[in-house]
Amino acid sequence: MASEKETDTDRDFDSSELGTKEYWDSAYEKEVENFEDIGDVGEIWFGEETMEKVVDWFEDNEDICKEDTIIDLGSGNGMMCIELRKRGFLHLTGVDYSELAITLSKSVAKSEGFEDIEFVAGDLITEERLNPCTCLTRQYKLVLDKGTYDAISLMPGDSLVARKQYLKTVKDIMRPESWFSITSCNWTKDQLLDFFKEDFQLVKQIPFRTFQFGGQTGSTVTSLVFKLKT
Ligand SMILES: C[S@@+](CC[C@H](N)C(=O)[O-])C[C@H]1O[C@@H](n2cnc3c(N)ncnc32)[C@H](O)[C@@H]1O
Repeated sequence: MASEKETDTDRDFDSSELGTKEYWDSAYEKEVENFEDIGDVGEIWFGEETMEKVVDWFEDNEDICKEDTIIDLGSGNGMMCIELRKRGFLHLTGVDYSELAITLSKSVAKSEGFEDIEFVAGDLITEERLNPCTCLTRQYKLVLDKGTYDAISLMPGDSLVARKQYLKTVKDIMRPESWFSITSCNWTKDQLLDFFKEDFQLVKQIPFRTFQFGGQTGSTVTSLVFKLKT
């Protein structure tokens, strides 16, 4: 493990509490309360515009139809799935390891009239932590990640093992014709390409903008779309 970490020189940022489940549970506990009290859906990571740009690209993609299955990894408050549902996509799943995120996303979706979106608790990198998550035993046409690989990369200690497990999870839930979209602020395009290059080929970079994450301002959002290598 130690030698593996030594070759993992790509992480040029420190770990943070944003890499812990405790942080997210506590954040979503507050967001559940806020939603109940004042109807605030909470944070949309990297902003609404970034989310809409990702959804725009898939909406305009002729190879993707409204009946295709879509999963959002680390779905948080569920807004990505809700946006997709508003655009007419029908078979949506959001998975997050925080049960409170699932509670929040179900409440937000219900308030929008979209109780047909499936939100499920599941851990992308540890099979033991929660009960087996059946949504991670299925395969999807479209696999989305906005900010979740970033959060996993911030785990205290050696994040490489976790990131490799994440990579395996993503591959396992894809078919040859599937698409994988990752939106990140901690990793540059080159770093993402380097990490995913063995199994994935780049199809498209979605235009980015600047924003705030983990106390740092002015970071750049990188949105890449991949397909599995054939
Ligand atoms: C930066 S937030 C992004 C939330 C949402 N995707 C968005 O764009 O608004 C990261 C999310 O990943 C979830 N997460 C982090 N590690 C995870 C893991 N190992 N398995 C599942 N979800 C995870 C967190 O609970 C949190 O909801």
